[in-house]
Amino acid sequence: MIAPLLELHDLQAGYRDVPIIRGVSLSVEAGRIICVIGPNGAGKSTVLKATMGLLRIFGGDVKFAGEVITNVATEKHVDMGIGYVPQVANVFASLTVRENLALSVRQRKQQTVALEEVLALFPELKPKLGAAAGALSGGERQMLAFARCLILKPRLLLLDEPTAALSPLLVGNVFKKIAEIAALGTAILLVEQNALRALEISDRAVVLSNGENAAEGTGAELLANSRIKDLYLGGHGASPAAPREPARAASY
Ligand SMILES: Nc1ncnc2c1ncn2[C@@H]1O[C@H](COP(=O)(O)OP(=O)(O)O)[C@@H](O)[C@H]1O
Ligand SMILES: [Mg+2]
Repeated sequence: MIAPLLELHDLQAGYRDVPIIRGVSLSVEAGRIICVIGPNGAGKSTVLKATMGLLRIFGGDVKFAGEVITNVATEKHVDMGIGYVPQVANVFASLTVRENLALSVRQRKQQTVALEEVLALFPELKPKLGAAAGALSGGERQMLAFARCLILKPRLLLLDEPTAALSPLLVGNVFKKIAEIAALGTAILLVEQNALRALEISDRAVVLSNGENAAEGTGAELLANSRIKDLYLGGHGASPAAPREPARAASY
């Protein structure tokens, strides 16, 4: 067994004094993709924000590379090698692609990779270096958001619904890219509403419900559990009567 790079143990966190996640545990190893699924409002984004040091932690631990980083400042997380791509506002729209990447590097002291190396992973950004990020397509913008993190050579990437609002074709491209990034050795904690497709590229998934772990397993294990399947994975196959997750409301 590989030692986990990230470990959340009984993590409790929330906004101001309101607890939202109430004892979430999970772990992510280098090169693995762990996906967090669950209904809207379950606390998925909150888990990522708490992991990143953006929220008050009420209890439990965040451990990274064996070190407890609970309540450590977010900048320190970045310097330690944790990259976070929030669901929205993850690029500077008025800056060019090149400026977005340069800014990312300038703000941090950690080791970075050369621009060409990042562009090799995202060739679609090459011809757009001089374009404003706001003029990119949704898929390209998501790639730029990934690239802004990857240029800092993170060991762990936290991705919050990277496929939200993308066309089905682009969803496939983004998932392919995530698998490629993991194959290079980066650990990935992926929050997704496209649960079935996310399970295809994930090594394991954690189902969150009401701020707590509701289930955990490989995609095959979760799909074999009819209760989990009905509740969280869109029910039985393509049946039109299958319960669907509610549409996403406001994102954070
Ligand atoms: N900035 C915030 N202030 C107060 N409550 C929030 C904030 N963001 C999210 N919440 C609440 O936390 C709960 C979980 O939200 P979130 O983690 O965004 O869920 P998910 O990502 O699973 O859809 C929701 O009830 C939501 O209303
Ligand atoms: Mg969310």
